[in-house]
This record gives sequence, C-alpha cells and structure tokens, in this order.
Amino acid sequence: MGKELKIRDVNKSFDVNGEKVKVLSDIGLDIEEGEFVVIVGHSGCGKSTLLKIIAGLEMNDTGTVQIDGKEVKGPGIDRGMIFQEHRLFPWMSIEKNVQLGLNGKSKKEKENISDQYLSLVKLSEFKKAYPGQISGGMSQRAAIARALATQPEVLLLDEPFGALDALTKIELQEELLKIKKRCKNTMIMVTHDIEEAVFLADRIVVMSSRPGTIKDIIKVELGHTRDRGGSDFAKYKKKIYNYFFEDKIVAPEYNI
Ligand SMILES: Nc1ncnc2c1ncn2[C@@H]1O[C@H](COP(=O)(O)OP(=O)(O)O)[C@@H](O)[C@H]1O
Ligand SMILES: [Mg+2]
Repeated sequence: MGKELKIRDVNKSFDVNGEKVKVLSDIGLDIEEGEFVVIVGHSGCGKSTLLKIIAGLEMNDTGTVQIDGKEVKGPGIDRGMIFQEHRLFPWMSIEKNVQLGLNGKSKKEKENISDQYLSLVKLSEFKKAYPGQISGGMSQRAAIARALATQPEVLLLDEPFGALDALTKIELQEELLKIKKRCKNTMIMVTHDIEEAVFLADRIVVMSSRPGTIKDIIKVELGHTRDRGGSDFAKYKKKIYNYFFEDKIVAPEYNI
C-alpha cells in the first residue's frame, strides 16, 4: 500500500561558488495514499531537488516533509527512486541487480522476489543477461523491478522514460499504470513530457522557473482509461502547455 505525504513550506538553496542560489521556494503539497502525482516544469526549476528531498538524499533548509506523519530525515526503505539513467551495475546480471536491496534475505527468498518483479516487468527471460546485453527500455524495466523489489510504499521517478524512444516510452507508461494498479504505491514522477503527465497523473503539479514554486495543481479527471487522441485529453495538454508558452507557439509535441 502507499503512504501519504505532507510537504510544508519547503525552501532550499545551494551554495554555488560562494553565492546562495535559491532553488525551491515555499513548496507546499499534500499527496494522498496511492495517488499518482506528476511534476512538470522547466529544466533547472528544482524538480529533481524536490524529489531528492522527499527521498532523503538532500536536506531542505526550512519546512518539513512528512510521510504518514513521520518526518523525513534521510533515506528509508519506504521510498524507492528511479532515475532517467537506469543505474544498473554492468558487472551484475539483471537478476542480481534486482536483488541488490534485499539484504538479510536468504538466496532462495531473493530469487523468489526477483523472479516475481522481473515477471511483473516482463523480463523473466532476461534475468541472466547483463545490462550491456539488453536495450534501453529493458534496462529501465529492470530498474523499475529493482526499485519495486524492496516494496517501497512511495515510488519517486525522475524523468524515468526521458531517454527512451517514443514507442518504448508509451509501452512503459502503460506498464507503469498496470504496476501501480497492482502494487498500489504512491507515485511521484517528474517529467518534461506534457502528454506523459496527462496520461499518467491523478494530479499535475506545475512549477515555475527557478526558484521553483508551485504555480498550479491540476486534477486530471479523465478516468482510468485515457485516450491520447481524445479531445478532453488535448484540452488538458493545452492547459499545461499554456503555463509554459502562453499561446506564443504551438509545438507539435508539447514537450517543455
Ligand atoms: N548539489 C548541488 N549543488 C549546487 N547546485 C545544485 C545542486 N543540485 C542542483 N543544483 C542547482 O539547482 C537548480 C535546480 O536543479 P534540479 O533540481 O536538478 O532542477 P530540475 O530537475 O528541475 O532540472 C539548478 O540550477 C542546479 O544547477
Ligand atoms: Mg532534474
């Protein structure tokens, strides 16, 4: 099951060459248990920093992040993270990569768990392969299996499909929804792909340029089965697009 998040008054600056650069400004957001929240915003507006703060990999300067009422003070097994690059160890088989976070379990238990999640991401046949022997899409599936194997209640996804070709991306978006239905994690994803956001999200968080603030939160009321070519779908895409380009140009891909 998923967990709920409460993000309150989060501010974050970095020191860059002796100067303070403000990256996140007064971020406040409540996320429900099992919700799928997608964050969109221009490059450099602090999206990855916000995910890292939730993951406990960066500390916020002020404010709080609570998961089921407990303040985040560092990384924990209740959270898993998936990045744009798969970050699999090239010298380990796919199976061994998926078993990485399963310390303290017997060999048999580890095998059962990795088999279960590799089957979920349709990679069972490739469990003995090495990352260099499989495609980018398959590597990303393996990274998803690895993140899920520890059964995190909250899954943080930082542009996970950003480096994939368009068709593989669509395939993995569909897979991700099936996984979500089955595992019921709370998911928070960052993307610059507006169509991806409208296809996946229960709510879309639109961020301003740096320092990142929350400009708007849009509830996507398109049900569970979404038609990418539908007119309601297009209205949501246009609405998000307008936050960034204000009708100046009409980009065919709606990518920011
Ligand atoms: N560890 C760091 N030290 C200094 N500056 C950083 C660090 N991490 C991120 N930044 C800066 O913070 C800003 C936001 O970064 P990031 O959260 O990665 O943006 P986004 O993911 O929205 O593209 C950028 O200007 C980036 O250069
Ligand atoms: Mg980023």
